[in-house]
Amino acid sequence: TGLVTYDPGFANTASCSSQITYIDGDAGILRYRGYPIEELAARSNFAEVSYLLIYGQLPTADELTAFTSRISRHTLLHEDLKRFFDGFPRDAHPMPVLSSAVSALSTFYQDSLDPFNAEQVDLSTIRLLAKVPTIAAYAYKKSMGQPFLYPDNSLDLVENFLRMTFGLPAEPYQADPAVVRALDLLFMLHADHEQNCSTSTVRLVGSSNANLFASISAGINALFGPLHGGANSAVLDMLESIRADGGDVRSFVERVKNKEAGVRLMGFGHRVYKNYDPRAAIIKKAADEVLSAMGKRDDLLDIALELEGYALSDDYFVSRKLYPNVDFYTGLLYRAMGFPTKMFTVLFAIGRLPGWIAQWHEMINDPQTKIGRPRQLYTGPDSRSYVPVSDRS
Ligand code: CMC
Repeated sequence: TGLVTYDPGFANTASCSSQITYIDGDAGILRYRGYPIEELAARSNFAEVSYLLIYGQLPTADELTAFTSRISRHTLLHEDLKRFFDGFPRDAHPMPVLSSAVSALSTFYQDSLDPFNAEQVDLSTIRLLAKVPTIAAYAYKKSMGQPFLYPDNSLDLVENFLRMTFGLPAEPYQADPAVVRALDLLFMLHADHEQNCSTSTVRLVGSSNANLFASISAGINALFGPLHGGANSAVLDMLESIRADGGDVRSFVERVKNKEAGVRLMGFGHRVYKNYDPRAAIIKKAADEVLSAMGKRDDLLDIALELEGYALSDDYFVSRKLYPNVDFYTGLLYRAMGFPTKMFTVLFAIGRLPGWIAQWHEMINDPQTKIGRPRQLYTGPDSRSYVPVSDRS
């Protein structure tokens, strides 16, 4: 097998060519379809960015209206799917609930699953964009023991999601505009990140010609891991445990540097960025502004700022080019909005959904696509003969 290259974690293997997202990890550059993330963050919104990623260009006003009203028409879940939530334990983590429900979508739409039928794929795309926020809100409601709220399609996607999550049937719900803007921004910043673990999973599963729902469900499971999307809740757990230990940032950093088992500076480091993650820079600024605007100054933000400053002046982190990544400050914002830690990774999934879909579209339409099938270096025993159980010592 002289032709096989050993590349653990695919750190040096391009598995596809793509026109969607550009990252220069050394310079800290991120662009969606050529547009710098800073410009999109300042001027665009999640609906527009979703369209941009999936269809390749920014929509005209008419295209955007058609897109968002199509999404609005599909936000309801089938009543049978709604009952699905009853089967999970009350304390179920919302991520596996989300991935299970998304997987189940292929049982509800069995006549529109052909990955090569562009019309069916487009319908599944709209259904996913519409239903994932509803599913996510219901996963939250289930964990709170509260009744599910039907979507209100007079609201935009983010407001609708907030209402279904935090609203109650007996009370009118009015989302704080600062929260709507901040959540929209966070979704936008998470919307794509080229061939990360979950996106590669979506493409790999899809490369077997599995349908879009099945592929996205697999991506959600990949995102659940603490080294990937799960890092945003792990950061909050870390900050809380530092606070519980009296806020001693230095001794925590020493534990990280001593490589104590399982102790990493969560929200730091990235496979591609060897510079400040541009998304983290935007979120850090937003965290400061939004928390002040909401009157929710958080002592965990002070711990995070101290931790960042301390790490960035320490040779361990400097020499390894470890900088804050997108997840370092997001949890503080989600917390200020009222989300429990368990929901953080679900919010990441809602944001990443258009990127997964865009990447799946690109994969299925690329004539170069082959079924994903990595090779291995076999290091097990040589050939040996079977010994009956009675003769084994
Ligand atoms: N804290 C302490 N040391 C670290 C960290 C960290 N967060 N990240 C990397 N290192 C060290 C690592 O121990 C290794 O040191 P040495 O050369 O002495 O063995 C060196 O830096 C290189 O690390 P690596 O694990 O080989 O790097 P990777 O590219 O395989 O891993 C990563 C990237 C993101 C998984 C890793 O940096 C990490 O575990 N970070 C913490 C989890 C996290 O924040 N994940 C979110 C990533 S961004 C958004 C997302 O994908 O969801």
